[in-house]
Amino acid sequence: MKKPRGTQDFLPVDIAKWEYVEQYFKDICKRFGFKEIRTPIFENTSLFKRGVGESTDVVSKEMYTAFNSREFDKFISDKNLQNASPSEVMQKFLSDKNRLTLKPEGTAPVVRAFVENKIYADSQPTKLFYNTPCMRHERPQAGRFRQFHQLGIEMFGSDSPASDVEIINLAYTFLNELGISNIEIRINSVGCPKCRQKYNKILVEYLKSKQENMCATCLDRLEKNPMRALDCKNERCQENVSDAPMMLDNLCDECNEHMELVKEHLNIIEIPYIVDPKIVRGLDYYTKTAFEIVHNGLGAQNALCGGGRYNGLVQQIGGPETSGVGFGMGMERLMISLEAEGFEAPKAKDLDLYVVAIDKSCEIITTKITQFVRKMGYSADRDYMNRSVKAQMKYANKINARFTMIVGPDEIDTGKYSIKNMETGEKYDISADELFSTDDKCSMRLDEIMC
Ligand code: HAM
Repeated sequence: MKKPRGTQDFLPVDIAKWEYVEQYFKDICKRFGFKEIRTPIFENTSLFKRGVGESTDVVSKEMYTAFNSREFDKFISDKNLQNASPSEVMQKFLSDKNRLTLKPEGTAPVVRAFVENKIYADSQPTKLFYNTPCMRHERPQAGRFRQFHQLGIEMFGSDSPASDVEIINLAYTFLNELGISNIEIRINSVGCPKCRQKYNKILVEYLKSKQENMCATCLDRLEKNPMRALDCKNERCQENVSDAPMMLDNLCDECNEHMELVKEHLNIIEIPYIVDPKIVRGLDYYTKTAFEIVHNGLGAQNALCGGGRYNGLVQQIGGPETSGVGFGMGMERLMISLEAEGFEAPKAKDLDLYVVAIDKSCEIITTKITQFVRKMGYSADRDYMNRSVKAQMKYANKINARFTMIVGPDEIDTGKYSIKNMETGEKYDISADELFSTDDKCSMRLDEIMC
């Protein structure tokens, strides 16, 4: 059996690096005053349709929408579908409002939780972070998976440009402290519904004059989401839009001032960025600031992090008018970038104590010792494979155990045990009285030996 296409297994050797990076992210979020939130792995399909937008690739092509086969049978018997083709039946069924979708991104679920739990009623801003798996049915390639993981932050309740910069700053500081230097922060403004509507008319007029050279996807987007034509990867489309009118030159005064202030805040804390008027982002909810952080070691899928402001989203999900801004960063792409920069995660801590049983008569006490040492906060393990003493010692060496203890009939009779430092060969006594004490005698002695 093989894993599904576009998914990955993470083996213990990978997990050590992932844990380090995830913990670093957690720590930095806390340093910036963000608190963790966890939302379900699936949500009602309507959340993403409403939140992310029906015309986006994510919603229209890439969602994993799940259903229960009994629900399907019931649906068929309830509705009069005799004359419908199988694909029409399926489409009707999937468009029904109670479908569930595996989350393709982190923002809409966090907004739903913000509204449902009335977090908006607390004093604002609300600063949340998350680390979540996401599922998108995309064509797998280097850096693009069907299950991937996003580290993300969302900040609610502030319209200040300083909050846009708080988001970019956290992403930049995180990457910087991890030692990633080969990045570029690209920022843009996608305007507000007011100025974007005016701009879209100008853009559509321009694009219509180039219609014959446009790819099928851009033609399809012409009415629904013309701005996406600006970041189409098709070469002819790229040429088409080389002198297209840009949103940045058509912002209303409010959006323009917001963008200028974002730049000023970035300048004052010396965060390098470039203004890229072609950053439009693939999700519908953005207003004003939109940004991406690209890493040059990533190849075609070079977007390491994407985010921006989404002022209408909370209301769209059923909450009160509340501003929002955030980012999502792909963990897999982050790990590829780190590798490209020669990053090595600090070595995982080795096992503290390996307890070796001389023969079967010592097995029970070996279990007890292992348990007592673990209770004192040290990592401990023992043999489960009926190995000889020599083979147990070899194994302890192989797993880099820092200390070993040999348990034989003599040790059990006399109550005198000995712990050996595997690096120096030095031996330390520990008595049964100390080892099995329920007060802090045991931990004090272990601290003396192992710290
Ligand atoms: P996004 O740009 O769709 O934005 O995704 C954010 C990041 O997730 C990307 O920059 C990339 O690193 C990673 N990513 C996306 N798709 C894949 C994939 N198929 N395989 C591997 N990595 C992938 C969002 O999802 C927004 N929710 C971000 C946001 C938060 N905006 C405001 N707040």
